Amino acid sequence: MKGLILSGGKGTRLYPITFNRAKQLVPVANKPVLFRVIEAIKEAGIHDIGIVIGDTGEEIKAAAGTGERWGVNLTYIPQDAPLGLAHAVKISQDFLGDERFVMFLGDNVIQGGISSLIRQFAHSDWNSQVVLTEVDQPQHYGVAELDENGRIKRLIEKPRNPPSNLALVGIYMFDKNVFTAVNSIKPSWRGELEITDAIQWLVENNFAVHPYIHRGWWIDTGKPIDMLEANNRVLAELTHTVDGFVDKDSKVDHLVTVERGAEIINSVIRGPAIIGEEARIVNSYIGPFTSIFHHTVIDSSEIEHSIVLDNTRILGIPSRIEDSIIGREVEITYSPIKPKAFKMTLGDHSKVGLL
Ligand code: G1P
Repeated sequence: MKGLILSGGKGTRLYPITFNRAKQLVPVANKPVLFRVIEAIKEAGIHDIGIVIGDTGEEIKAAAGTGERWGVNLTYIPQDAPLGLAHAVKISQDFLGDERFVMFLGDNVIQGGISSLIRQFAHSDWNSQVVLTEVDQPQHYGVAELDENGRIKRLIEKPRNPPSNLALVGIYMFDKNVFTAVNSIKPSWRGELEITDAIQWLVENNFAVHPYIHRGWWIDTGKPIDMLEANNRVLAELTHTVDGFVDKDSKVDHLVTVERGAEIINSVIRGPAIIGEEARIVNSYIGPFTSIFHHTVIDSSEIEHSIVLDNTRILGIPSRIEDSIIGREVEITYSPIKPKAFKMTLGDHSKVGLL
């Protein structure tokens, strides 16, 4: 089997974090979402993985490279415009050939254990397998209607009146018949070739499409709140280790990872949390569900339930920072010089909540 990861898109709902970086490269528990997807596919024994890239392609190539570090071969497939998931399949036909494959959306995070599912498909005679899960607002997703025997009756993309609460989660498995399907459908109202329509075409033409209902968590990291939620979930399930330095005046509980070269000085860290390589936490409090990425400095400040990216400095902030995503090379400082005031240099699309 081969793997196909879709890693295009502008990530506008995550601006400004994704203003100059691919959304799939934003780290969750200090690892880019895309790398988690590559690892999940590799875990299923797949070594040939295509990555469909768009405007942010160069950055994705620079970050993931040849795939050597995971022991896989990565092939980059450029998509000229975001014309839909089925369009991405269409342009990947040369790479995929006649092999069965799993397609994974590069910005989705799912609770482990999908490798058995992929293996099951590899050895089956099904033409496709789709992963479904119950959601609260099915109208925002592709939705499946099952019959009384649990077989797929119908699939609809973002229906106004959803026939069920079972959404397609962005993990799909196909054999080569999907190419006939993607070449037979027309663009939807949003001008995209929808993979949901291609699978519906397979169902209508009597190909075997097998539904699998996922019972764990699954997060599509489209918005900042989803990113924080994914961070919570992954941090809670991580096996934590301390490789960095913790001084004797600090309290670091057992659900905290301190990565290589990080220093914790006179601070309290309550897990689940992760402190990145060469980061420095001094005279500070880091609360649960916080990921501090590499080379960041937190000094005399308190932060909780947040993601802070690399090379950022948070110094002497008198009130606690919560529920925040803070980008790279940001500086947040407290100035004792009068007049007492908030002094900010914020880029386009920044969001700040002040007391
Ligand atoms: C896409 C698919 C949709 C699926 C969703 C999962 O939606 O079209 O069927 O449920 O991914 O994240 P989009 O993110 O393009 O709106």
